[in-house]
Amino acid sequence: MIRALFLTGLLVLPGMAVAQILLTPEEIQQTLSHGPWPPQLPPDASNRASGRPDAVALGRAMFSAPVLSANGQMACASCHDPGQHFTDGLPRAEGATRLDRNTPSLFNLPLHRWFGWAGDSDNLWAQSLLPILNADEMAQTPEGLKSTLQASPLAEPFETVFGPLNRQTPTAVLVNTGKALAAYQETLITGRTAFDRFRDALQAGDLARAGRYPAAAQRGLKTFLGRGRCNVCHSGPAFTNGEFHDAGLSYFITETRVDSGRHGGLAALLRSPFTLDSAHSDDPRRSGAWAVRRVRRTHADFGTFRVPGLRGAAHTAPYMHNGSLPDLAAVVRHYNGIDPERLHTDGEAILAPIGLSEEDIADLVFFLETLSNAR
Ligand code: HEC
Ligand code: HEC
Repeated sequence: MIRALFLTGLLVLPGMAVAQILLTPEEIQQTLSHGPWPPQLPPDASNRASGRPDAVALGRAMFSAPVLSANGQMACASCHDPGQHFTDGLPRAEGATRLDRNTPSLFNLPLHRWFGWAGDSDNLWAQSLLPILNADEMAQTPEGLKSTLQASPLAEPFETVFGPLNRQTPTAVLVNTGKALAAYQETLITGRTAFDRFRDALQAGDLARAGRYPAAAQRGLKTFLGRGRCNVCHSGPAFTNGEFHDAGLSYFITETRVDSGRHGGLAALLRSPFTLDSAHSDDPRRSGAWAVRRVRRTHADFGTFRVPGLRGAAHTAPYMHNGSLPDLAAVVRHYNGIDPERLHTDGEAILAPIGLSEEDIADLVFFLETLSNAR
């Protein structure tokens, strides 16, 4: 049916403007793969607090309270500001020299299997512990965290979820703190957008409704799926394959320091005591880091970063791991004029200059904005 209606191209309905579907049947199939949204997400088996309302409330309180930091000055929300889509609007986070990276938004994290730009963690609770322990951020020790929590108003809700504090080792308190923070962050899922209404109308064969999706967005989507080849990496409902690629950004932080990306991330992951194959996981199945323990790090991992999801991205400028691109138009221009010589990773034969006109660029940006309720 979709094919028949597509061939008609234009669909005129009584009392309505002309509704137009510009996609080919193949493009319609590809479009369907970017949904449905929101996704059905099972609880995180590695986190017994996952999905528990009391743990979510505890995690929300911990996220914004400075109680987790040694000097009582810094909260997760200091960088991941809930009023700014859980980021800070800066190119690179202030005072986080372990990273020197852009603060990512925290939406749609349950759709990932690796966390951080370089995949330092294979689960969300372990990733949530890194800023607590990092000397440049919250500078806590497990012992310090336990005694601070015991003396804080959060002790009571913490004990409701995880049992008496005085019966937990400092490390167990730390891990449970990560699990409460993760339970909260899992609930951060971006809302439905104009794109989702378009996609669902296509799936239902309701071309009149689908035709309300602006022509500029449809043209941008065609570029996204076609000439731009964006969906090779930005695939699936969250618009990411969750893996690591080289998108042609500089890996120099200063003239003498480089960000090794996944190469360093794998090393951090394999060193971490808090992986899914550790005793801290509540899931007896071994997974995550276990899958890469035997994989040798190679030169090809150098300077690759995790593909970001694109839902909500219109609200999280500036972009890329180093925050070097100020807006979505700059991102599209970067891809449009990409220098294949700059792609430093072996075998990354996906990206090439696209040759988009100014109008094509505006359309692709328009499309990206429809993934964010910015249109
Ligand atoms: C000083 C700023 C800062 C603070 C404070 C901070 N973060 Fe972050 N956060 C960052 C940066 C920068 C990254 C990127 C890290 C990387 O690439 O390894 C990040 C990454 C993350 C990620 C990975 C997101 C993804 O897309 O994989 C999670 C989860 C996270 N932070 C949660 C937290 C929690 C929970 C806290 C509080 C305990 C916190 N952060 C405190 C700056 C901060
Ligand atoms: C080879 C895989 C690949 C392809 C193809 C690709 N991207 Fe990306 N994209 C990435 C990676 C990896 C990053 C992060 C790069 C970095 O920070 O170094 C990224 C980052 C982005 C960002 C920034 C998101 C953020 O939150 O910072 C946007 C927007 C984006 N890509 C859009 C596109 C568009 C539009 C296309 C098609 C023209 C495209 N991408 C093609 C892998 C890809």
